[in-house]
Amino acid sequence: MQKIKVLSVFGTRPEAIKMAPLVLELQKCPEIESLVCVTAQHREMLDSVMDCFGLRADFDLNLMRQGQTLTDITARVLEGLGAILTQARPDLVLVHGDTTTAFSSALTAFYAKVPVGHVEAGLRTFDKASPYPEEMNRQLIGRIADLHFAPTGNNVKNLNREGIFDGIYITGNTVIDAMKYTVTGSGFTSPELSALPLEGKRVIAMTCHRRENYGAPMEQIFAAVRQIAGEFPDVQVIYPVHPAPVVRKTANRILGGVANISLIEPLDAIDMHRLMSKSYLVMTDSGGIQEEAPSLGKPVLVLRQETERPEAVAAGTVMLAGVETEHIVGLARRLLTDQSAYHEMAQAVNPYGDGMACRRIVDAILYHFGRRAFPPEAFSV
Ligand code: UD1
Ligand code: UDP
Repeated sequence: MQKIKVLSVFGTRPEAIKMAPLVLELQKCPEIESLVCVTAQHREMLDSVMDCFGLRADFDLNLMRQGQTLTDITARVLEGLGAILTQARPDLVLVHGDTTTAFSSALTAFYAKVPVGHVEAGLRTFDKASPYPEEMNRQLIGRIADLHFAPTGNNVKNLNREGIFDGIYITGNTVIDAMKYTVTGSGFTSPELSALPLEGKRVIAMTCHRRENYGAPMEQIFAAVRQIAGEFPDVQVIYPVHPAPVVRKTANRILGGVANISLIEPLDAIDMHRLMSKSYLVMTDSGGIQEEAPSLGKPVLVLRQETERPEAVAAGTVMLAGVETEHIVGLARRLLTDQSAYHEMAQAVNPYGDGMACRRIVDAILYHFGRRAFPPEAFSV
C-alpha cells in the first residue's frame, strides 16, 4: 500500500520546537513518508532547534532578511512553497500555530489543492489587533484547514464558535512532548549562561518580543524589570534577547548596564528549558513559555493585556500582568516577598498536554486516510 506523504512546514523557533517531536513521530510511522520544509523565517534560531532535535530539512526556502515585513514573508512563502508542492505532491501539509509562515503555507497548500492539518488549532483572543498578526493568522488557517489538532477542549469551543465542527481532534500540545527531549540533565551549553554567577540568587527568566508590545508597552515592561532588579539585589534577571532589531535596541537602552540584569543571546531550547526549571519566577510575553513554565511548577507573569492560553491562568500558575509598569512591579514584588502567595502559584500543572500529543496526531492522520478504524482517544486534563 502506498505511503501517506506528509509535508511539515515551519519557519520560526516556536513552530520548530513544537513540530520537532511530531516530525520524529511521523518518521517512526511505517505508513507515512515524512518530509520537512523549513521556510527559515528565522535563521539562527531555527537552526538551533533543528540541531537540538537532530532534524534535517528536505527543503529550505532560506527566506529570512533583516527587517523583513509581513508582506515580504508572505510573498516569499507563496512563491517558494508553491514550487515545492508542485514537485513533492504531498497528501497533507502540516502547519503549526499562528505565524506568518503558518498562514502563508496553509494558503499556498490551499491554492495547490493539498489538504492542510493545523497543529495547535483553536487558540483565540477574538481580538484582531492582539496578538498581531497572530490572531488573524490562526483564524484564517482555521478556515483553510481540513484537520484541526486542538490542544484542549477549550480550543475546540473556539473553533465551534466559528462554525468549525469537522476534522477536530483534541490532542494536547506538542510542546509537552518536546519537553521530554529537552528537560533532561543539568548544566548549560551556552558559555554566556554558564559564566553567570547564580549562586544564592533568585533567577527571573524573562523574554519579551511581541510586535504588539513594540514601543510604549515594551518600554513600560522594561522599566518594571529595571525597578524590580533595583529593589531586589538578590534577584538575577536573565533575558535572552530576541534578535529583532527593535527589541534589541529597546532592551539595551533600558536594561543595559544593570549588574543584576543579564542580557544574553537567545538560548537553545535545551538551555532555555533548563534555565526555566532552575528559575524562581518567569516573566514573559511568549506564547510557548506560558505552556512550558506551568509544567515545571514555575509561576509566570504574562507581560500582555490578554492571553489565548487561559487554561494555566485558571489553574493558578499563570497571571496576566499587563504592560503597565506599576502593576507589573506590584505583582512581582508580591511573589518575591510573600512566600504563601508564591507557593500558591508555584504548583506544577499540565493543562496543555500529557506528552502524547504527537502520537494522537499521527493516529488521527492515519484515521483520516482510512488506515485506522477508530480515531485516537481525546486528551483530557
Ligand atoms: C515571529 C512570529 C511570532 C513569534 C516569533 C517567535 C510572525 C508574524 N511572528 O515573530 O508569532 O512569536 O516569531 O520568536 O510570524 N531575526 C534574526 N535571526 C533569527 C530570527 C530573527 O536575526 O534567527 C531577526 C531578523 O532581523 C528578523 C527579525 O528578527 O527580520 C524579526 O523576525 P520575524 O520572524 O519577522 O518576527 P518575530 O518577531 O521573530
Ligand atoms: N526559547 C528558547 N530560547 C530562548 C527563548 C525562548 O529556546 O532564548 C523557547 C521557549 O522555551 C519556547 C519557545 O522558544 O519553547 C517560545 O518561542 P518564542 O517566545 O520566540 O515565541 P512564541 O511562543 O511567543 O510564539
